[in-house]
Amino acid sequence: MNELLSIKDKIALVTGRANPKLAENVSKNLKVPLSTVDIKTFKDGEIQVYYEETIRGKNVFIIQPTFSPSDNIIELLMLIDAAKRASAASIIAVVPYFGYARQDRKDKARTSIGAKLMANLYTVAGINRLITMDLHQDQIQGFFEIPVDHLYSSALFIPYIKDLNLDNLCIVSPDTGGTKRASSYAKFLSCELAIGYKQRSRANEVDSLQIIGDVKDKNVIIVDDIIDTAGTLAKAAKEIKDAGAKSIMAVCPHALLSGKGVENLENSYIEKLITTDSIPLCVPSSKIEVLSTAPLLANIITCVMNNCSIEQHFTPF
Ligand code: R5P
Repeated sequence: MNELLSIKDKIALVTGRANPKLAENVSKNLKVPLSTVDIKTFKDGEIQVYYEETIRGKNVFIIQPTFSPSDNIIELLMLIDAAKRASAASIIAVVPYFGYARQDRKDKARTSIGAKLMANLYTVAGINRLITMDLHQDQIQGFFEIPVDHLYSSALFIPYIKDLNLDNLCIVSPDTGGTKRASSYAKFLSCELAIGYKQRSRANEVDSLQIIGDVKDKNVIIVDDIIDTAGTLAKAAKEIKDAGAKSIMAVCPHALLSGKGVENLENSYIEKLITTDSIPLCVPSSKIEVLSTAPLLANIITCVMNNCSIEQHFTPF
């Protein structure tokens, strides 16, 4: 009987409540409807999920970026658990923004490794594969003992930047941790590179940031993976402006924009921020342009189902 089913009939596309708009766009691109799932929150805050249609023998793709609040994580775990208990053939977590990725090592004597804990939780809950995008560090893939399809938003940003036809272009990483990412952009765009030397004494507060490299009279594009409070971005933009840059833009896949993030961006020297829909924008800003990851995610889901290579997407640039 299974031989008679098309690939699309073997997929159950599911969304949690973190980013239903993205899931709807993936569904449109794939031409596979979203499965109906009832998700409730009880008065005490507990979450319950219920698949309203059978998913027995289906490959269940659950789209849920895990930005704050942590309920997004719990909801994903519940969706995985319910799919496992409903006899899904395989369970694939599609997590375009992987929360806790910044906690990827034990950098103090008695701290946890949040990213590894998340990997353990999703695996124990029952996923067979993870599809994710722009992990804070590539090595997080190794926290999993199952396949991880790690995508890069540069597939969207590089063509966008090329279309701008900017002369005298300079790519800037706002901190040394992002040097590899920024240098790949610079190599691909055949342009110059500068690096920010950022010092923090606590999370979300930038003590100092110096730019190493020449940005004078350059059209600068800052490349980062996460914008949280936009403190790093604003500080980097100020230093770059003071050093005589002609224009300053930023590209970043995951715009959390927590706290005063949008305000900090609005008040900064950043003229434009190009981001993705891995996280839904809560506060609008005329400075922000969003590129959708939906066609890319739909393409990868198709590749996974057809056992096609995703090498062209896996190669960063
Ligand atoms: C840090 O390693 C990340 O790549 C980002 O630069 C950081 O998370 C941005 O945080 P914020 O916007 O709060 O300065």
